[in-house]
Amino acid sequence: MSRLLVQGGKALDGEVDIHGAKNSTLPILAATILTGGETVLQNCPKLRDVEVSIRILQYLGCSAGWDGDALVVNTKDMNRHHISDGLMREMRSSSIFLGAILARCGKANLSYPGGCELGPRPIDMHLAGLRQLGATITETGGRLDCETAGLTGRTLVLRLPSVGATENLMIAACGATGTTTILNAAREPEIVDLQNYLLCCGARMTGAGTSTIIIEGKAPLHDCTYACMSDRIVAATYLCAVASAGGRIYLKGAKEEHLSTVIALLREAGCQITSQSQGIVCRAQGRLQSVQGVKTAPYPGFPTDAQAVVMAALLKSCGATMLEENLFENRFRHVDELKRMGADIQVSGRVAVVTGVEMLHGASVEATDLRGGAALCVAGLGAQGDTWVSGLDHIDRGYESIERDLCALGGEVTRI
Ligand code: EPZ
Repeated sequence: MSRLLVQGGKALDGEVDIHGAKNSTLPILAATILTGGETVLQNCPKLRDVEVSIRILQYLGCSAGWDGDALVVNTKDMNRHHISDGLMREMRSSSIFLGAILARCGKANLSYPGGCELGPRPIDMHLAGLRQLGATITETGGRLDCETAGLTGRTLVLRLPSVGATENLMIAACGATGTTTILNAAREPEIVDLQNYLLCCGARMTGAGTSTIIIEGKAPLHDCTYACMSDRIVAATYLCAVASAGGRIYLKGAKEEHLSTVIALLREAGCQITSQSQGIVCRAQGRLQSVQGVKTAPYPGFPTDAQAVVMAALLKSCGATMLEENLFENRFRHVDELKRMGADIQVSGRVAVVTGVEMLHGASVEATDLRGGAALCVAGLGAQGDTWVSGLDHIDRGYESIERDLCALGGEVTRI
């Protein structure tokens, strides 16, 4: 089983292109089903989760293949409305295909997505919204059987601004007769990227990025070429890498407006961050300062996906910082691994208190989930000696090649 060797103690100095965003590419790939035609997706990241989405599309009878960095998908020959258990288990967010298959075929059958490393991941809001749009949904033996004589636009109110539920219902509403209004919708930049893709295909919708999204259904959709946004969580990871190791980096394609809470925190800790037309420059020197408490929340609040890497960046800071995880029950699994490197972290329920230490040392650690794995690499860059990171399957789900990027930024990271 391959591992990453992170040789720490060296300041970073370099630049890298931030690849396309996993969390907008996945819903966009599901939405290609609505067009019944060709989508050329540029800046599409080569990730494990994207490979699973390609296999799901192929399983459904669609064609999907790479043309350089672009992924060319054609859904005209789709001939199935169910997804196998095996494929559903490979990627928790394959439930995002439900709205698209239902809108296209009038029926859909897939297995209930289980929980994941982060804790229980219910989809009750996805199902409640689809039922309100006119779907009949029965669950037998862990499989969801969905059927509709035709979806009809409604006003849907989400209990909380769920990213996945907002995306699934935006997609389903494109195939509904009449107007759908989603209230208390998620406002993440990835939702805006999905809307922009659908508009590019001819859909009629407004409001993504706000908490009210309005979709005029049944607009005739057509082929399109679309470029995915850059991955803001990958950018946040590399900002934390230079905060941990020191040095200067330039992140091409990163946007400050997508990362305002993370950048505000790193500035408060002592990093110098400047936005340029094509990207972000970050300098870090000496010991960082602890910061005011961090509470994860739906966008524009502090992103839960950056919690672990920010924790890793603050391990050697002066003072103590409290981090509160409000989105997922089980998102501190990286803490015990960081402690192996000499970190001082106390966890109680959803709160972790990081007390900065003078020095971290290399160790053998294991990635327990995607962002927790990235945090181990961030800590390893700021530690003395060698850190061996295993469990790379987790990391490869969301980073095209974390070692390639960290080396381009001046780090010494090798996959062995
Ligand atoms: C998306 O997951 C992202 N995944 C996650 O990123 C991210 O952490 C999360 O949004 C929050 O920002 C993708 O986009 C593929 P939610 P999603 O629905 O859609 C509860 C990463 O590291 N909930 O906004 O699953 C849920 O349990 C991943 O890239 C319900 O209770 O997140 C959670 O506590 C990890 N019922 C909260 O809402 C529902 O029907 C937010 O979940 C749906 C969600």
